[in-house]
Amino acid sequence: MKTDRLSSGNSALDRLLGGGLETRTVSQFYGSPASGKSTLCMIAAVACLRAGHPVVFIDSEGFSIERFRQIAGEDTERLADKLFLFEPIDFDHQGTMIAEADKIIKTQKPQLFIIDSATALYRTDLEKGRDAMQQLTRQMIHILGYAKRYELAVIITNQVYMDTTRNTFYGLGGTALEHLSKAIVRLERLPTPGQRRATLVKHRSQPEGGSFDFEIVQDGIKTKA
Ligand SMILES: Nc1ncnc2c1ncn2[C@@H]1O[C@H](COP(=O)(O)OP(=O)(O)OP(=O)(O)O)[C@@H](O)[C@H]1O
Ligand SMILES: [Mg+2]
Repeated sequence: MKTDRLSSGNSALDRLLGGGLETRTVSQFYGSPASGKSTLCMIAAVACLRAGHPVVFIDSEGFSIERFRQIAGEDTERLADKLFLFEPIDFDHQGTMIAEADKIIKTQKPQLFIIDSATALYRTDLEKGRDAMQQLTRQMIHILGYAKRYELAVIITNQVYMDTTRNTFYGLGGTALEHLSKAIVRLERLPTPGQRRATLVKHRSQPEGGSFDFEIVQDGIKTKA
């Protein structure tokens, strides 16, 4: 039987996800600023590139070449050749770039599609009072279509908002984004400086609530043994 998992680039995260990122579905990492979302995206991208497969990376916050270099190390230039990077400037542009990625996917046959963050530009439109929710759902359905048609693993990252009545952080994009994401990992900063935790909050075939702690380091993340 064909394997339907792609390594996330980190063994603790792979274990949490029951063996890795599931292809043909969307996995979501959400968390507050500096919780490690972009770092985990870069680690997954580098692992996929190292395995010899192209990656499509939509970065709505400005891709950090410096951070990519830290994680990719000596292989940076070689790996960057197969990294197809899109940097939308607003939420409409994000939709256009998602549509344009089709050509690259058809010709380059990536195994991983990343959008970091799916909701940064959406948040700006929301603040402008536009009906951004529908547009976000359309964009995500478009990406889900790629996942299924081209057998890709997809990572979306999501920003959070504070629900003041419950004093808890939730991912943006409402239940639509929750339903579309078949695996959801929450990232949080712990009270101990530098410590972070990844917790599985939704999965189709793994128990929820599993977690591991990590630190962000120069070449990615470091987990406790
Ligand atoms: N080389 C490094 N060594 C150690 N820590 C680093 C290094 N580079 C970045 N960091 C730390 O990583 C954190 C940022 O992680 P990351 O960019 O993955 O967060 P994020 O969840 O994507 O945040 P945002 O919501 O702002 O996009 C910061 O705390 C930063 O200090
Ligand atoms: Mg980020």
